[in-house]
Amino acid sequence: MISKKIPKERRVILKNADNPSYSNKITCYIKEGGYDVLKKSIKKKPEEIGEEVLKSGVRGRGGAGFPTGMKWKFLDRKSGKPIYLICNADESEPGTFKDRQIIHKDPHQLIEGMMISAYAIQAKQAFIYIRAEFFEGAKILNRAIAEAKAKGFCGENILGSGYSCDLVVHRGAGAYICGEETGLIESLEGKRPNPRIKPPYFPAVLGLYQCPTIVNNVETLCNVKHIMEMGGETFSKIGKPNNTGTRIWCVSGQVKNPGYFEFECGALTLGEMIYDVCGGLLPGRTLQAVIPGGSSAKILRADERFKGTHKDGTDFDWGIEDIPLDFDGPMAAGTMSGSGGIVVMDDTVDMVEAMANINAFYAHESCGQCTPCREGSLWMKKISSRMCSGDAREEDADLLLSVANQIEGRTICAFGEAAAWPTQSFVKKFRKDFLKKAKTQKRKKDSLQLI
Ligand SMILES: Cc1cc2nc3c(=O)[nH]c(=O)nc-3n(C[C@H](O)[C@H](O)[C@H](O)COP(=O)(O)O)c2cc1C
Ligand code: SF4
Repeated sequence: MISKKIPKERRVILKNADNPSYSNKITCYIKEGGYDVLKKSIKKKPEEIGEEVLKSGVRGRGGAGFPTGMKWKFLDRKSGKPIYLICNADESEPGTFKDRQIIHKDPHQLIEGMMISAYAIQAKQAFIYIRAEFFEGAKILNRAIAEAKAKGFCGENILGSGYSCDLVVHRGAGAYICGEETGLIESLEGKRPNPRIKPPYFPAVLGLYQCPTIVNNVETLCNVKHIMEMGGETFSKIGKPNNTGTRIWCVSGQVKNPGYFEFECGALTLGEMIYDVCGGLLPGRTLQAVIPGGSSAKILRADERFKGTHKDGTDFDWGIEDIPLDFDGPMAAGTMSGSGGIVVMDDTVDMVEAMANINAFYAHESCGQCTPCREGSLWMKKISSRMCSGDAREEDADLLLSVANQIEGRTICAFGEAAAWPTQSFVKKFRKDFLKKAKTQKRKKDSLQLI
């Protein structure tokens, strides 16, 4: 159990999110100094903004943690084709619920971040791709964009600068794969969201309508506003090297106080988050496992030890509670911080059922282009749901592992890994539970035959 005093939340992106006297209207945003950073940024050279973002070290908050400044550098600016900016507001990873908070509570922060980013990459057209289920979010954004356009913060001749960029909201039709950037682009083009193969289809070179395109997550684009407000250098001092800025963590599952929390990267450990910030587990329960970065991240067992050597040569030897909450900590523990969705599971969770639930999701969401993903995810679902309906077999653990191993690394997009990693990690780390299920069910069947 953690007892040391933990740091307080550092709310940068969510500064006003839960302030009862704050609303998502433009008047409120402007009163708080909103759009002042855009006013300053639009007077700079676009490449100066890119340099600040690079200096800040900010990494994408959508899942892969790719450095944003570097992504912007890859943009093909010489092709002469139009450049597009897309905000990924699909937020489809199970366990993740941060972007919707920003959209609902502070949409102008996103619009300001997007307009600064659009200017930096010289996009004339920007999109917010929002998942179909966020109906209310789309309404809020459309209203906020109209307010921003009326005041000259986006659209034609922004703030009299001569630079114009239109911003529109595009609603998806409800598929997880639309969160994957190339699937998203296909969907935005009005097609089925079949992800594209990389290379050659890196969006920064061949993106929307085969033009250079930057796709960034909602939280990432909000960070751009704060980077330009405080300067890249100052931003890079928040958090830790290679893990700069704050991060919004979404905690769900069996803790007393689930919710979303913003902390400096690496300011606290997974144990501090569970026991101090979220009030610990429900009475009488013990921790069994944690999924640290959305359903596609590999699960961590409560009694595992994680040993290794950091890049700087120092050794680490952690229990689950010691894992630092940043990008590199979960990675060193063999998993990932992904989309920041932390799912806590206590001793009442049936691990086979939890895995079956995840498998059913991925089987449903596979776009079907690649045989290993389409067939494999379906087989993993079939086997695990059979295990949960009274017909578990002792060979199922190995069978599941074999199917998952044949998906990983053999698909067009990273959905293949997203589907394979849960099964691989659940089976490897909870093999005993899988075998126990098979043995118990066999005993039940045998005794029924005797009756
Ligand atoms: C299967 C799959 C689903 C994804 N879903 C999302 C999502 O819902 N939201 C998101 O921002 N990124 C998602 N991503 C990551 C995007 O492809 C892309 O890396 C991200 O939007 C880039 O933004 P960032 O650099 O700001 O993180 C997903 C990736 C994969 C492979
Ligand atoms: S890995 Fe799965 S989701 Fe991705 S392209 Fe292949 S079939 Fe579609």
